[in-house]
Amino acid sequence: MTAEPVNTNDEVRARLRPDLRHLHPYGAPQLDVPVQLNTNENPYAPSEHLKKVIADAVAAVAGTLNRYPDRDAVELRKDLADYLGHGLTAGQVWAANGSNEIIQQLLQAFGGPGRTALGFEPSYSMHPLISQVTGTRWVAGDRDADYGMSTAAEQVRRHQPDVAFVTSPNNPTGTSVPLELIAEVYDAAPGIVVVDEAYAEFSRAGTPSALTLLPNRPRLIVCRTMSKAFAAAGTRLGYLAADPAVIEAVLVVRLPYHLSTVTQAVARAAIAHRDEPLATVEALRRSRDDLVGWLRERGLVVADSDANFILFGIFEDREAVWQGLLDRGVLIRNTGPTGWLRVTVGTPAENDAFKRALTEVVPL
Ligand SMILES: Cc1ncc(COP(=O)(O)O)c(C=O)c1O
Repeated sequence: MTAEPVNTNDEVRARLRPDLRHLHPYGAPQLDVPVQLNTNENPYAPSEHLKKVIADAVAAVAGTLNRYPDRDAVELRKDLADYLGHGLTAGQVWAANGSNEIIQQLLQAFGGPGRTALGFEPSYSMHPLISQVTGTRWVAGDRDADYGMSTAAEQVRRHQPDVAFVTSPNNPTGTSVPLELIAEVYDAAPGIVVVDEAYAEFSRAGTPSALTLLPNRPRLIVCRTMSKAFAAAGTRLGYLAADPAVIEAVLVVRLPYHLSTVTQAVARAAIAHRDEPLATVEALRRSRDDLVGWLRERGLVVADSDANFILFGIFEDREAVWQGLLDRGVLIRNTGPTGWLRVTVGTPAENDAFKRALTEVVPL
C-alpha cells in the first residue's frame, strides 16, 4: 500500500502570514543574453587596475575572516560621508547590503503594523513590497499625467503617512523632483520622508541633491547606492544620510554584523578609486540624451530622464515589443504604466544593438 503523497506546498502555504500570501518575489528576469539593459546597472565592468585594487583589498582582510566584521562599519561610513560632502560626518551616514536593505531597516524602524507608508506611483516597486513585508500598510499615491508630483504635499496631508517615499530621479520614469517640492512634502508630512536618490549621479549638471535639505530637517532621510553610477551592483552596498537620531533608530533593528568584512573592504576600495566608475557617468548621460532624441525622432513618447534609463512607449502590445527585442538578444524591462517599456543606457555597442533591434521590431 502506498501512502497518499503529502502536498507539502499547501502545508507550507497555509502557515505563511496571510498578509504575504498574495505577494510575488521581486522578479526582474536574469537571462543570459548578449545585451542586458534591464536592471539599470552601469555597463562598464571594472578595469584591470580596479580589479587588482579590489582583489588586494579582499586579500588584506582575508586573514581576519575568523572574526566578525566591524558591526558599525565606521571607516566605511567615514568614506561615504567624505564622498557625499555637504559637511556630512560618519555619524550622519549608515550603510547596508544595498539600498533595499536600507529601505527595509527604515521600514522596520519607522513603519510596521498599524503604520502606513506612501509613495507616488509609478515608482520603485520595492517600496510597496518591503512595506508589506514589514507589515506596513502601503498607500499608493499618484502623479500628474506627465509624472510630475504637483499634488504630492496635498496627498501627504490627506493620508498622514508614517513614512513617505519620494524617488528622485524616479524609477521607472527617470524624472527628477524639484527640491522645493520635496521641502513641501516634508513640511506636510507628520513622519519620516525618505528621498530615494539611487540615480542621483546621473542627474543633469546643476541639479541639486536632497542632501542640501538635510540641515534642520531631522525627519528627512536621503538614500543612495553604489549599484548604479559606482558600477558596483555586485558589491551590494547602499547607504543613507540623515540626522544621527535616525541612525540610532536603525541600529535597533539592524542585524548584528549585517555588513560583511569583505563587503566593507570592497566598498572602501571602490570609493577610494571612485574616479574610474564615476568617469563613465558623463558618457552615459550623453548616450541617454542621444537615445531619448533617437526614440522621439521615431515618433515614440519618451519621459524626460535624469537617470541611466529611459521610459518609452506607448505600445498597444508592449509584451510583443519586449519579446521581439529579447528574440534579438536585447533584454529590456517590461515595467511601468501600461504600454511603456524601460531601457537601461548601455555601452555605445549595446545602445546600437538596442536601436537595431527596435528598428526591426517597430518599423517606422
Ligand atoms: C529607485 C531605486 N532605489 C533603490 C534601488 C535598490 O538598489 P540596491 O539595493 O542595489 O542598492 C533601486 C534598484 O534598482 C532603485 O531603482
